[in-house]
Amino acid sequence: MKQAFQFGKIVDRGNFINRKLEIERLHQNFLNRTHTILISPRRWGKSSLVKIAAEKFVSKHKNYRVCYIDLFEIRSEKEFYEKYSKVILGAVYTRFDDWVEGIKKFLSKITPKIRLDLQQEIKFDMALDIKKESEAVSEILNLPERLAEEKGIELIICLDEFQNIAELPESMAIQRLLRSVWQHHQHVTYCLYGSKQHMLAELFNKKSMPFFRFGDLFYLDKIHSGEWVKYICKQFSETGKEVSEVLAERIVETMDMHSYYVQQLSYYVWTHTEDVASDKIFETAIAQLLQSNTILFQKDFESLSRTQVNFLRMLLDGVTEGFTRGEILERYELGTSANVAKIIPQLEKKEILEIYNKKVSFSDPAFAHWLRQLFA
Ligand SMILES: Nc1ncnc2c1ncn2[C@@H]1O[C@H](COP(=O)(O)OP(=O)(O)O)[C@@H](O)[C@H]1O
Ligand SMILES: [Mg+2]
Repeated sequence: MKQAFQFGKIVDRGNFINRKLEIERLHQNFLNRTHTILISPRRWGKSSLVKIAAEKFVSKHKNYRVCYIDLFEIRSEKEFYEKYSKVILGAVYTRFDDWVEGIKKFLSKITPKIRLDLQQEIKFDMALDIKKESEAVSEILNLPERLAEEKGIELIICLDEFQNIAELPESMAIQRLLRSVWQHHQHVTYCLYGSKQHMLAELFNKKSMPFFRFGDLFYLDKIHSGEWVKYICKQFSETGKEVSEVLAERIVETMDMHSYYVQQLSYYVWTHTEDVASDKIFETAIAQLLQSNTILFQKDFESLSRTQVNFLRMLLDGVTEGFTRGEILERYELGTSANVAKIIPQLEKKEILEIYNKKVSFSDPAFAHWLRQLFA
């Protein structure tokens, strides 16, 4: 059965809405071999967007292949190279024998450990021989270009959670190396994306950094309220239920148009609704949503200092500017104005707040809601 609402994973096409301009922009970049850097806070929809855009693109352009590398759990340079080779080989070759051939031909400097497991899935590790390491690394990084040339295809390589590159030991050297090799590729287009805006902005916007001006950098926006409302009403009616536009708007507004949370809250409202959604059901749903996050929120809350808490309380009271006014400092016990200037970057680093269009807001609308109840 079709799912009415989805959250916590890359959305299927049936649950994916809008993003027309963003898809078009990605397609133009793929076509023109312009690399892309896509940034937004967590769970706004980057991974889903790239996946849908790339799938649509390769279904129209048969000479393109796409591969996805998630850097989320990559802890070392070696793990990165392993995953990089594996995913690229996998995008081009489907048969085990071809893999073996491909490795022999294009990765002569590494010692691969490659086998089929019981499910006939290809498992791949490799040993880097220290003596030949730099040659091996250069082979690996050039693998997509050489494969693409050999096969007469174009490759799109998507690197998700790219900010993790900055966490690797020797990160600067790695970044310099990646950029120096990748910039010579003629048949490979990179799409780099991730969260933690301040970290990514540093990687791509700072002149001294290797990836400075690597490609088309864009910040993903939220999906507009009207689009969400249409979607929610449609999902209800297609599954034999009903929700009013007013209530759908309330869902969207409560969750501040945050993609993940709009889907999650809609889902809870939907599960509790037999025929027609009501305000009472909405209240049950929001309680359920907050409940499911309580342990997490509690932990975040406990990590805050007193002044940080006071600052958040001030934001929830609707004060959005003039934080350093004497009266505000006093009322919310924020200390000195120099102190306040430090709070915002601290809370940004903790991913509690974000600065978007020069406005300070909560990264997590459900956390804001939870705090409001706590303070009440
Ligand atoms: N275009 C979209 N249409 C509908 N829901 C979306 C869309 N993009 C994201 N979502 C919702 O947000 C959640 C998080 O999306 P995801 O792509 O994983 O975000 P990110 O990669 O930015 O963290 C998804 O599981 C889904 O519920
Ligand atoms: Mg993601």
